[in-house]
Amino acid sequence: MTDDQEPLAQAGAQVLWHGRFGTKPADALLAFSASLPFDRRLAFDDIAGSRAHVRGLARGGILTDVEASAVLDALDTVEEELRAGTFVFVPSDEDIHTAIERRVTELAGPAGAKLHTGRSRNDQVATDLRLFVKRELRGVAREVVELQATLYDLAKQAGDAYLPGYTHLQRAQPVLLAHHLLAHGWAFARDVDRMLATVARADVAPLGAGALAGSSLPLDPAATAAELGFASVFRNSLDAVSDRDFVAEALFDLALVGIHLSRLGEEIVLWATEEFGFLRLADEYATGSSMLPQKKNPDVAELARGKAGRLVGNLTSVLVMLKGLPLAYNRDLQEDKEPLFDSIDQVSLAIAALTGLLRTADFDTDAMRRAADSPLVAATDLAEFLVARGMPFREAHAVVGTLVRESFESGRSLRELVAAHDALGADALDLLVPGVAVVRRTTPGGAGPAPVARQLKQFEEQLAASRARLDPAGLPGQVGRGERSRGADSG
Ligand code: ARG
Repeated sequence: MTDDQEPLAQAGAQVLWHGRFGTKPADALLAFSASLPFDRRLAFDDIAGSRAHVRGLARGGILTDVEASAVLDALDTVEEELRAGTFVFVPSDEDIHTAIERRVTELAGPAGAKLHTGRSRNDQVATDLRLFVKRELRGVAREVVELQATLYDLAKQAGDAYLPGYTHLQRAQPVLLAHHLLAHGWAFARDVDRMLATVARADVAPLGAGALAGSSLPLDPAATAAELGFASVFRNSLDAVSDRDFVAEALFDLALVGIHLSRLGEEIVLWATEEFGFLRLADEYATGSSMLPQKKNPDVAELARGKAGRLVGNLTSVLVMLKGLPLAYNRDLQEDKEPLFDSIDQVSLAIAALTGLLRTADFDTDAMRRAADSPLVAATDLAEFLVARGMPFREAHAVVGTLVRESFESGRSLRELVAAHDALGADALDLLVPGVAVVRRTTPGGAGPAPVARQLKQFEEQLAASRARLDPAGLPGQVGRGERSRGADSG
């Protein structure tokens, strides 16, 4: 008899399913399948779910009031032990659910052994994870709002500073710096909206679905759902235990936040180059080189860009894990947690670092203006000047394009050629005066001062609306950064 085949009676701690099995699980199985190292992060959500379940069992007459309070007291003790870091895990604790139930049974005796009545880890883990996603995604959304607020502050401070707007990374038309910053801000506004929509869809309680088919016992899933603060309750027990759409959606939302951070990061990297010179990083948000003494590197922005790959990877891993699964629960689903936790953490870290970088960076608006004051970026205005005098745009485009080419070929300035041109002439020269082109971007949503002033107002309103959605009834920070789960062990 090998160690793996040791009879259960001699195996020390029991596994949950010991009745059906003659020998204890192999060490290789335990090592491969244990999820405790990561799912302990769900500890407090698990306790919340157990409290609701126990009260439900008492309401259904399955537990006496005395038994229920013994179990609830034991759950209180477990919570205290976890918070104090005195909870002792044992080798047979396969996951956080097992560990908590084991400890409750130690503390509450026979009543504790009734905790799992009418419940499976399948509906339990789905409940825990939905509670986690609801809280954590709202937490990330709050952080995104703070990043948006930073962009808004910078946009207001930018005043009438302008820089070249680019297409194909070639100078195209001047835009206000505020407009450029808010462009990133609106992408984050969509992220906040998207995360809140995901939270709304995650807000369905699976507790009471059991392993897959419900129960013969008098459970009331709607009541436990309400007690746990869920907006609604599952309609189909098979779907309840096998659905991880909310994890995939959360991972998509986080990946897209990461992609937006990455695009912002890429611009910071470019702007911080000597070639662009639009931005200087504060020492506290830049890094040096171990060999090259002159270097000041934008590692924060580069990592914001680099993390996006990992976030997309986390989304991909969960989608691929889900794609072939038959109903209902399969152990594959355990692979949903690490990518989710990782994406939450990485996005959170990236937002904090990038927000700090932006708040402390020094924007060189003189360098931006110099880059934007080339007469070439007013070429579209020259064409529109001709359009205003009745010339079809296509023709006007060709006229100006020809002048630009002549200027490059002959070495004569565009100003000179414009002045000498019959249809353009001295009047059109006004358009080439530095700072004029950006002011002429007047249409709604455009890059000039008038529409940007309106946009700042709209952005401010949008920020206030997001904050109201995230902290309704004036309860700011009801789940602040500190409250967010970092796992039972890490406090
Ligand atoms: N650790 C498991 C998970 O994360 C809990 C559910 C286990 N259920 C089961 N039938 N083995 O999915």
